[in-house]
Amino acid sequence: MTNHLNDRQSYWESTLTDSVSYPSLSHDLQADVVVIGAGIVGLTAAELLCREGKSVVVLEALRVGSQVTARSTAKITSQHGLRYRQLIDDVGEDKARLHAQANEDAIEHIARLVADEAIDCALERKTAYVYTTNAADTASIEEEAAAAIRLGLPARLSAEIEAPIAVKAALAFERQAQFNPARYLAGLAATVAKKASLFEMSRASEVQHGSPCRVRTGAGATITAADVIVATHQPIVPDGMFFAKALPFSHSVVAAPLDPSCPLGGTAVNNQEPSFSFRDDASSGQRYVIAVGPSFSTGVTRKEEQSFAQLVRFLQDTFGIPAPTHRWTNEDFSPMDGLPFVGRASSDSPHLHVAIGFDSWGITTGTAAARLITDLIMNRPNPCAELWDASRIRPLKGGPAFIQGGIESAKHFIGDRFGLPRYKKEPDLEPGQASVVRLQNDPVAAYRDDTGALHAVSAVCTHMGCLVGWNQTDRSWDCPCHGSRFDVDGQVLHGPATKPLKKFTGEA
Ligand SMILES: Cc1cc2nc3c(=O)[nH]c(=O)nc-3n(C[C@H](O)[C@H](O)[C@H](O)COP(=O)(O)OP(=O)(O)OC[C@H]3O[C@@H](n4cnc5c(N)ncnc54)[C@H](O)[C@@H]3O)c2cc1C
Ligand code: FES
Repeated sequence: MTNHLNDRQSYWESTLTDSVSYPSLSHDLQADVVVIGAGIVGLTAAELLCREGKSVVVLEALRVGSQVTARSTAKITSQHGLRYRQLIDDVGEDKARLHAQANEDAIEHIARLVADEAIDCALERKTAYVYTTNAADTASIEEEAAAAIRLGLPARLSAEIEAPIAVKAALAFERQAQFNPARYLAGLAATVAKKASLFEMSRASEVQHGSPCRVRTGAGATITAADVIVATHQPIVPDGMFFAKALPFSHSVVAAPLDPSCPLGGTAVNNQEPSFSFRDDASSGQRYVIAVGPSFSTGVTRKEEQSFAQLVRFLQDTFGIPAPTHRWTNEDFSPMDGLPFVGRASSDSPHLHVAIGFDSWGITTGTAAARLITDLIMNRPNPCAELWDASRIRPLKGGPAFIQGGIESAKHFIGDRFGLPRYKKEPDLEPGQASVVRLQNDPVAAYRDDTGALHAVSAVCTHMGCLVGWNQTDRSWDCPCHGSRFDVDGQVLHGPATKPLKKFTGEA
C-alpha cells in the first residue's frame, strides 16, 4: 500500500497558456496516409508528408503533446550518453556514422522547422555534456570522445561542464539544442492542421493493413488509406511483435525554480550510477531546472520511490534546491540490440509503418524516424533504412540486460496473483492510497481518492494480461510488461493497450 505524493502534471504542460484543441473524429474518411499518434514521430511525419502533397489524417487518442515527448527533458542532441564506441563495436564504423549523422540532421531539421514556422518553443543552441565525477571512469569518456570524433561528430574533451559540479572528465558536443517540447508539439500541430485533418480524443482501436489499409476508431469511424504510420510509441499493432523486442523503463522527473545566477549553461547527463540528466528552461518567464533521475521498472512503486529520493537529493546537493515544484514520471523503450526499429512493421505489411526503441533519445531519433518513414512512403532511399529496419532479426547484442528485462516482464505476466492481499468489502485504504488486491481469483486495482471515493478496476492489463502496478506520482496504473498506462478509472493513458481496464463492480 502506498501514499500518493504529488501533482501529475508535467512542468511542460504547465507552461502551455493558450492551448488549441482539435475536434474528435465521428465520420468515415479517406486519405493517402493515416498517422496514429500526435507525438514527435507522428506530427513530424505528418508535416513532411503534407509537404510532399499527400492527404494526411492524424488521429490522437488524447490531446496533442500530452504524452512521452512533452514529458521528456527535450534535449535536442546526437550525444546520447556513451553511445558511439559501443555502436562502432556492434555495427562497424560506417553504419555507426549513419546513425550519428541521422541524429545530427534531426537537430537541423527541428531548428529549420522552428524558424520556418515561427514556432514559439524557446529553442536554444546549447553544448551537450556527458560527464563523470569518478576518476575511474575517465578512460571511458576519453574512448567515447575518440569514437565520436572519428564519426565526424562535433565532439571534444572538456575538463569542466557548465554546471556547479566538479567533474573528473567530460565530453562536450557543440551546437546541440534544447526546447520546450509541449510548445514545439503545439506549434507543429498547428502547422500540420493547416494542410491535414487532425483529430484529438480519437483513439485508433483496430488497424487492418493491406491495399488499402483501414483504421477504426473507438467511436466507430473508419479511415481508409494507402499507408498507415503507427506512431503510438509502443505500436498498438501486434505485427512485428515489438512488445517483445523493446522493453519499457520509467524515470522520475522533477522541475524547480532555479536562481538566475546559477551557472547552468549546457545540457548534461552523467555516465555513472545513480544516473542524472538535467537542463534549464526559462520559457515560462521564470528560470527552472528540469532533471531526470535513475530509471526504474515501469509499475514498480518501490523503485519509483527510490528514484525520486535519489533525484531530490541530487537537486539539493547540486543546486541547493530543497524540494521540486513539479514531479512526474516518463517512460521510453529500450530496443533489443541498441538500435531503433523504424519502417515497415514486417515483410507482410509493406504499408504499415512503425517507430519504436528510442532509448531516451527520441527527440532527435524520433525526428529522424519520421524522415525515414516519409522516404519509405515516397519510395526514396534513406541512409538508415537498412540499419533501423523494423523487420530485422538480430542476435541479442544487448544480451543479458535485455533478457533479464524479459524475465521481469514474465514474472508480472504470471503475476503475483497468488500472493495478493484479499480485497475486503471496505478496503483498508486511506485517501491517496492504492493497492492491487485479490477478490477470489480476480486481481483488483483499488485506489481511494482525496475525497475518500474508491476507484476499483481490474488489475489485468487489457493488452496481454499482465498485472498493473501503482504509479504514485502520476496516480496511474502502469503495466510493467509492455508499458501501457491507465488512469484510476481504467481509461487508457498510454498504449500499447487500446481498451480500458474493466470496471470492478463486484462485492467481496
Ligand atoms: C525521462 C525521459 C526523458 C527524456 N528526455 C529526452 C531528451 O532529453 N532528448 C531526447 O531526444 N529524448 C528524450 N526522451 C525520449 C523521448 O521523449 C521519446 O523517445 C519520444 O518523445 C517518443 O516520441 P513518440 O512520438 O514515439 O511518443 P509520444 O510522444 O508518446 O507520442 C505518441 C502519441 O500516440 C498517442 N497514441 C497512443 N495510442 C494511440 C491510439 N491507439 N490512437 C491514437 N493515438 C494514440 C499518444 O497519446 C501520444 O500522443 C526522454 C524519455 C524519458 C522517459
Ligand atoms: S502492456 Fe502488454 S500486457 Fe500490459
